[in-house]
Amino acid sequence: MSQPTPDFSRGAAYVNGTFVPMSEAKIPLGDWGFTRSDVTYDVAHVKHGGFFRLDDHLDRFETSLAGYRLTPPVDRAQMREIVGRCVALSGLREAFVAMLSTRGVPRVFGSRNPHDCDNTFYAYAIPWLDVIKPDVQERGAHLLVASVPRFSSRSLDPTLKNYNWRDLSRGVFEALDSGYDTALLLDDDGFVTEGPGFNVFIVKGDVVTTPDRGALLGITRRSVLELCPELGLEPRIAPVTFDDLMEADEVFTTTTAGGVMPCARVNDRIYGNDRPGEISLRLKALYWQKHAEGWHMTPVNYDDPERPFAAGLTPEGEKRP
Ligand SMILES: Cc1ncc(COP(=O)(O)O)c(C=O)c1O
Repeated sequence: MSQPTPDFSRGAAYVNGTFVPMSEAKIPLGDWGFTRSDVTYDVAHVKHGGFFRLDDHLDRFETSLAGYRLTPPVDRAQMREIVGRCVALSGLREAFVAMLSTRGVPRVFGSRNPHDCDNTFYAYAIPWLDVIKPDVQERGAHLLVASVPRFSSRSLDPTLKNYNWRDLSRGVFEALDSGYDTALLLDDDGFVTEGPGFNVFIVKGDVVTTPDRGALLGITRRSVLELCPELGLEPRIAPVTFDDLMEADEVFTTTTAGGVMPCARVNDRIYGNDRPGEISLRLKALYWQKHAEGWHMTPVNYDDPERPFAAGLTPEGEKRP
């Protein structure tokens, strides 16, 4: 009897060397990725049938892997092919694409030695999602500066992408309990860092500033910094205080799963007309216009999932044998 064709339309995952529908993707309970948060990851997106800044995401993932001393069983070229194949299998033209490496399950029962673990590589592509819902983005998000501080950068480097989200999750509960959409966290010294899954920017005149500390080096953040000069804006990476936030003309957040997301309120401060600010909206429009023009885009070859990038070419752009 022939096997039924797997249904990848709700997402495709790569687990233990095979591609499975997302609904069948599992990790073992004993994996330190789960029991110790000993895992790093990266998330890219696909729009208009192509990856956005795929190699920048792979660069950041490799930096995170090195920072965590994780050695997955696949090399960069293989990771690239695997994430591409997840997308091609799913057929998704707009997708959220994650790659992960966990410490793994120790080979020696009860071991506390990370060298006893074989590190893993997982990946998946699922339909596009927004970390701040589109209707909230439309009216401008309401952020609460949470009372819980962001974890100390001395304990955990925030530029290595991580799932240590206790502080961020506590902030979200606090924000929701008080009627806000989501949270922003300050560090122990009172400087603005980031929120649950996004970087933050303030706009004052024609200067667009994002915090220089306590935050992931977001790929969307970098894209916005690159786009600012096209709109005659001055991009800046600098310390941002709570007062800077309150005195800003506009505030917006950025992430892969949402792009440029304008805010209308932070705490009891209402910006402009309690709607997304003009500069935030111009940056958002330019960001998506650039996508439509193919900026930093690597098209996916949906016709042949085994060769997910330009048919007949290796990831390095060389002709396949
Ligand atoms: C904590 C945190 N900060 C910032 C970001 C935004 O980074 P990027 O623009 O690369 O998605 C993310 C993305 O998930 C994140 O988890």
